[in-house]
Amino acid sequence: MTFKVINGKKMADDLVEEVRLEVQQMCEAGHAAPGLAVVLVGDDPASGVYVRNKIRRAEQAGIRSIEKRMSADCNQEELDAVVEALNQDDDVHGILVQLPLPKHLSEERIIRLISPQKDVDGFHPVNVGLLGTGQADLVPCTPLGCLEMLQRELGDLSGKHAVIVGRSNIVGKPMANLLLQANCTITVVHSRTPNASEISRMADIVVAAVGVPKLVGDAWIKPGAVVIDVGINAIELDGKRKLVGDVDYDKVAPMCQAITPVPGGVGPMTIACLMKNTLVAAKRLMNISH
Ligand code: GUN
Repeated sequence: MTFKVINGKKMADDLVEEVRLEVQQMCEAGHAAPGLAVVLVGDDPASGVYVRNKIRRAEQAGIRSIEKRMSADCNQEELDAVVEALNQDDDVHGILVQLPLPKHLSEERIIRLISPQKDVDGFHPVNVGLLGTGQADLVPCTPLGCLEMLQRELGDLSGKHAVIVGRSNIVGKPMANLLLQANCTITVVHSRTPNASEISRMADIVVAAVGVPKLVGDAWIKPGAVVIDVGINAIELDGKRKLVGDVDYDKVAPMCQAITPVPGGVGPMTIACLMKNTLVAAKRLMNISH
């Protein structure tokens, strides 16, 4: 079967360009450009790369970025104070604290402290609740990017059976809610599901988000399915470091209608959706209609 490789980089470029045009219109109408604050605690190299990419994309979209770097041994009160100051700052419309935080700091506390209206990650319990009732306008960026890719690929998703592999708060659970809202039939399989591959093999759409390299093999896929691979796992192969997804790409791709590659699939779309969320938050805070 010939399969399509979904070009996440190209879709992300298109989405960032759409955001840039809207930002330009806002500025021409006399409004301030949206402002995105990114808080990075410590010097984890992977987090550093993600933050750099977010700031680079913000520049392309015409979004002002404010970078706050804190040392790995800062205490909870110091981090709380930075977030509280950003909550109060009218020039900041979106706040993102890069996760994971060092072990001695509470992620749950920080997520709750960020103003729900500036929560461009969509992690605050208020936004999680609004997503559950289909009313959220700030939705976690990774599942939002996956949804955009599926809709751009398949059009209307009504009636499709989607299987989500993984039940994390960042991807699996919000993905299930978004696909339910798009009228899919949803099954979430996870580490305690006894027959996960059998269930997955019934799906029209498979979203893999578990962080286990190449877990999803050919036995998990119905011929003609569309597969979205959220995993980014660094493995050693022939003495070299390589990035692979949660899907065994070489075995699965030939069975699919379409599949996302790793890298170059979900990753760029996640960052593009952060720009979209920042624009949404800024417009709401400035009372500009959608
Ligand atoms: N670390 C890995 N993914 C994410 C994300 O989507 N948002 C934040 N804040 N940190 C992350």
